[in-house]
Amino acid sequence: MLDSIRKTEQEFDVALAAAASHADLEALRVRFFGRKGGAVHALFAELKAVPAERKKEVGEALNQLRDSLEARLREKLDASAAEENARKQARSSIDVTLPGRTPSFGSLHPITIVRREIEQIFREMAYSIDPGPEVETDWYNFEGLNFTPDHPARDTQDTFYLGPELLLRTHTSNVQIRTMEKAAPPFKVLSAGRVYRRDEITLRRSPMFHQVEGFFVDRGVHFGHLRGTLEHFMRRVFSPDTEVRFRPSYFPFTEPSAEVDISCPFCHGKGCGTCSKTGWMEILGCGMIHPQVLRNCGIDANEWSGFAFGLGIDRVAMIKFGMPNIRTLFENDLRVLRQF
Ligand code: DAH
Repeated sequence: MLDSIRKTEQEFDVALAAAASHADLEALRVRFFGRKGGAVHALFAELKAVPAERKKEVGEALNQLRDSLEARLREKLDASAAEENARKQARSSIDVTLPGRTPSFGSLHPITIVRREIEQIFREMAYSIDPGPEVETDWYNFEGLNFTPDHPARDTQDTFYLGPELLLRTHTSNVQIRTMEKAAPPFKVLSAGRVYRRDEITLRRSPMFHQVEGFFVDRGVHFGHLRGTLEHFMRRVFSPDTEVRFRPSYFPFTEPSAEVDISCPFCHGKGCGTCSKTGWMEILGCGMIHPQVLRNCGIDANEWSGFAFGLGIDRVAMIKFGMPNIRTLFENDLRVLRQF
């Protein structure tokens, strides 16, 4: 019997040393400790046949065998489980030595860049910023601004009507009436936003574009203030050597009215393809606010006077960034937008 015990132990040693996987160890456990046909179990069964005077000795040897095999098997099983755990963790854990991925940041749209720049220039001159509504009534877009009932701009061919009363504003001049109607002068307001006209898309035109409107109403405001303000504005937006010239023009809401040209930013007045060899570029409309417009807003035109101007942000952006086509600003081609 003691021989069998020793033999079983040796077999166990060999099998344990050869066990390479968790499955091998499990097979080993069944082979030696299985309830049915397990080698250790079988030895215990044989104990019954051992003569009484040797039972104690053999029994102790058997207990020792069982304890020692069990302990060694447990040790191996634990080691194997720990190894498996480590392998799993290595597969799923974060490798902190990998180089990081930089998140990609968006950038400001060129129109936004120019709009903010213009707003900043006027903020420095104590103007307040008010974008005003894009959906407007006839009063704020036309009537209050002194447009005659038969003015061509009111035509459904030119203006998007949303119903009998509502339309999409055709210019940012609506903000003049909205501001002057609800408060008392003086006013210094700059308004930038989208405007809409029923235009075909061409190199220079789009049915939706952006304008800036500025106006200043106070006692004693005259054309010199307008000229000085616009010269400063143009030299800040373009370059400090920009020349500004005023040509007489007509708008229903200003009297006198003017159109303003700047010396061509590309050839500095020498004449090039972009300015059609004239050395000048038309950039904005302006004038002294018509007394009737002031009266329409309940302002005494004998006491107060003001100037106003309006220009296209898109056009400024096209000139500043050398874009020949207005569509470049609205197509949202990432290859373009990423350059800003
Ligand atoms: N509203 C005019 C337009 O859309 C631009 C303009 C001209 C605005 C003269 C003004 C102004 O305030 O005084 O073409």
